[in-house]
This record gives sequence, C-alpha cells and structure tokens, in this order.
Amino acid sequence: MTDHVVVDGLTIEFPTEDGAVRAADGVSFRLPAGARMGLVGESGSGKTTTALGMLRLLRPPGRVVGGRVRVGDVDLLALEGDALRRARLRVGAYVPQGAMNALNPVTRIGAQFAEVYADHGERLSGAALRARVAAALAGVELDADVARRYAHELSGGMRQRVAIAIALSLSPRLIVADEPTSALDVVTQRQVMATLIDNQERLGSTLVLIGHDMGLMAQTATHLAVMYAGRLVEFGPLEAVFARPAHPYTAALIRSVPTLDRRDRVEGIPGVTPSLKRLPPGCAFAPRCPRAAGVCRAAVPPLAPLDATRFAACRFAGEAHGAPA
Ligand SMILES: Nc1ncnc2c1ncn2[C@@H]1O[C@H](COP(=O)(O)OP(=O)(O)OP(=O)(O)O)[C@@H](O)[C@H]1O
Ligand SMILES: [Mg+2]
Repeated sequence: MTDHVVVDGLTIEFPTEDGAVRAADGVSFRLPAGARMGLVGESGSGKTTTALGMLRLLRPPGRVVGGRVRVGDVDLLALEGDALRRARLRVGAYVPQGAMNALNPVTRIGAQFAEVYADHGERLSGAALRARVAAALAGVELDADVARRYAHELSGGMRQRVAIAIALSLSPRLIVADEPTSALDVVTQRQVMATLIDNQERLGSTLVLIGHDMGLMAQTATHLAVMYAGRLVEFGPLEAVFARPAHPYTAALIRSVPTLDRRDRVEGIPGVTPSLKRLPPGCAFAPRCPRAAGVCRAAVPPLAPLDATRFAACRFAGEAHGAPA
C-alpha cells in the first residue's frame, strides 16, 4: 500500500538578527490513510511550525526552505494560486492551537460556515445553507440553533466543536489538530477528542494530533512522532514506541506520564530545552541525555531506520532506554 501522507525533509527557517533559525530541520515521516499520528515535544520544539509548513499556512518571515509534502497524489508544496486555494480544507485542514479563540467574534457562527463554502465556490443561501450548516454542526454534536449564535455565547467546548466542524467542512484528506483540547477541562477534553476521532474515522482522513499529553496520545494515536529542537528524533507505530522507546528523550517523555502505580514518582526531564539560536554541536539532546557519549557531541545523529516501520536519531537507538514499568 502506498502511504497517504509523505513528509520528506521538510525544513523551515525564521530569520533572526543572528542568522536563520531552523524551527523544522529535515522532518520526515510517512503515514497510511486513516492513521492518527501524535506529534509531541516540548514547547518551542517546532510542532506548530511543522504543521503550518506542511499545510502551506506558514506566514512570513517563516519560510519553507526545503522538502516535500505529499497528501494522496497532491504535492502540497508545489501548489500555487488557484490550485492552492482549492486544496485548502479539501486536501489539508488545520485546527489551530487555541482554535476556540480564533472564531470571528462579530459574525454569527452560521455566516462563518457560509464564508468557507463561498471561498470554495459554493454560494449557498436560505434553506440550502441552513441545512448544510445544521449537518456540519450535527457532525460535531451541536444543535442547529448554534448557527444563529455568536462565539461569545458558546462554552469553550462548543466553540472548539465549531472550530473542528469548520476545519472538516470540506472533508479534508489530512487533518492537523494543534492541541485541540488543551484549554478545556478534562471531561470536555475527552468528549471533544472523541468527536474529532469519530469525524476523522467517518471521513477516512489521516490525523496529525499535536500535543504534550503522552497519556492522551497513548489512548488516541496509532503512530508517534517526537520532536526535539526542530528535529524529529523518533517516529514509529505507537505501541512499539511505547513498549521500547529508541530515543532517550522519548523514554523520558513516556516516564513522565503518571500511571496508577507510578503516581508519586513521575519523573521530569532535567535540564532545559536548548535555544534554536544556540544549538549544541552534535545531538541537541546530548546535554540532558543520561546516555550521551563523545560521539553524540561530535555530529548530529541522522533519523535512521531501526526496522521497516521505526526511525530514531540516536547513536544508541538499538539499546533499551528504560521502557515504562
Ligand atoms: N514568528 C516567528 N518568528 C521567529 N521565530 C519563530 C516564529 N514562530 C516560531 N519561531 C521559532 O520556531 C520555534 C518553534 O516554534 P513552534 O511554535 O513551532 O513550537 P511548538 O513546538 O509548537 O511549541 P508549543 O508547544 O509551545 O506550541 C520557536 O522556538 C522559535 O524559535
Ligand atoms: Mg505549538
């Protein structure tokens, strides 16, 4: 089977006074249709930048300087003009970080759906528009009368459902949801996540789910990608990665998940994330890594295959790095 989503060497730079920083450096992974990939990593590691670059939503001064992104048979980074406009929300859709605050405060919810349809050449009005919006809202378990309301009249969970419905309104093949539930309480988080997954399965789309919550990823994702300082350091099927993480950073993230028998001794990761402006030579994780040796500080380890499905950027990827208890 050919992979549905292929990201190959995606590299994104931001210019700064001290030269360009690479917020995504050679990011590569492949996913089958219908997969759900958790994209995790500390704040500032490049998750949002990678997502925006993949979907052609990156704003200047950020710039994609290399790589390819393919969704189905669409070469996303090669699209221009009209073809790019048509691909938005059809090929790839983004549920932004803090999406619930991204809704237009002065336009009724229904009109915001109408704008999306109009942008794609479907000028609906009257009963046809109401029916289409009602169906979109029903898909995220909201009543049709939400269409007449303004964002501030809705709860956070409802706004997030609206944001998801808008992103999914043209049945995108790839959905990237950037911390879609992080601002919600735990119960609402679970409900909204279930709705997102139901829709992704109904559409048969591939989902990239960005977040920090490894526990949520364990329950939700089929694949896991771990970013550190702009680079992908591990990628593979979720169960295999959790059972035997190949990168010490992945192992540390997994150990930081509280479990029933480990509630009292959740481990943080000592040290701090390096600034992209001053990356250490060699492996960026080496200064915090319990396993680091001279070779790690000499050269950046490439993201290399462990087997047919797993990749890791660590000289010691073959060793056990402390699977979770
Ligand atoms: N507009 C910008 N201008 C300059 N540099 C930027 C800009 N946006 C992002 N960066 C750089 O890219 C890096 C990655 O940022 P990004 O927002 O992608 O991280 P993230 O992994 O999504 O973090 P978080 O978990 O906090 O959302 C930042 O550390 C910063 O160096
Ligand atoms: Mg982010």
